[in-house]
Amino acid sequence: MDLKRAIMERISRRAFLDEPVEKLKLEQLEAAVWECNRAGDINIKIVTDDPAPFGAKNTYGMISGAKNYLAMIRKAGDPDGDEKLGYYGESLVLLATGLGLGTLWVAGTYNKNECNVKVADDEVLRCVIVFGNVKDRETLKEKALSKTIKRNTKEIKDLLLSDVMVPNWAVDGVRYALRAPSAQNRQPVRFVCSEDAVLAKVDETHENDLIDLGIAKLHFEIGAGGGNWEFGNAGIFTK
Ligand SMILES: Cc1cc2nc3c(=O)[nH]c(=O)nc-3n(C[C@H](O)[C@H](O)[C@H](O)COP(=O)(O)O)c2cc1C
Repeated sequence: MDLKRAIMERISRRAFLDEPVEKLKLEQLEAAVWECNRAGDINIKIVTDDPAPFGAKNTYGMISGAKNYLAMIRKAGDPDGDEKLGYYGESLVLLATGLGLGTLWVAGTYNKNECNVKVADDEVLRCVIVFGNVKDRETLKEKALSKTIKRNTKEIKDLLLSDVMVPNWAVDGVRYALRAPSAQNRQPVRFVCSEDAVLAKVDETHENDLIDLGIAKLHFEIGAGGGNWEFGNAGIFTK
């Protein structure tokens, strides 16, 4: 599936079916994880059949049937590590969406200590991305949860700061960034467009801001029709 379409179709899913993910889809995810780890010097791991971190008391009843996930692991000392997990992790989310799977970034409503994954002394497990088969349409409970969490969804003018004429590709970038998942739907990333550059920044007041930054940068890049981001808060985009 085209990445722009995957962005437009993706929503967080919280009710997973008790059906294993097809082998072919898992293999495609595995290949993509390997490539992300190589490109970003991170250590994402695929875990299947491990429901323990998502017991009802860990998810406050918000998530059901979760048992497959990507453990989002990075080097403890990597200053761009969170952002890279966001950027590369979201590319895996969009791949999974294209494969017809449901996904959910989870940083809060799970029990990290119950994840069946090895994390080295110089690494940190920052969050997980649950994936799996889901019903075609959201269940009533999923809809209600999503409506509550997404009460204050932002608009282009809230995310785009500029004193100059903004090129169409940058507006398109922000349009796709608006669709980016973010912790608690805070949508903390701002795009600043000046005469010669676009940069993306967060104020780093929330522990997941830099993960959200990486996710939003990928969405912007896809919406803008390609280009390159410098990693780092206030990193610059080159078209
Ligand atoms: C880094 C990160 C952490 C998140 N953690 C959780 C979580 O712990 N529990 C949960 O139900 N949703 C979590 N979410 C999903 C967000 O609530 C969701 O992306 C946001 O409400 C926007 O909704 P959408 O993804 O359907 O567009 C997280 C998202 C991100 C990006």
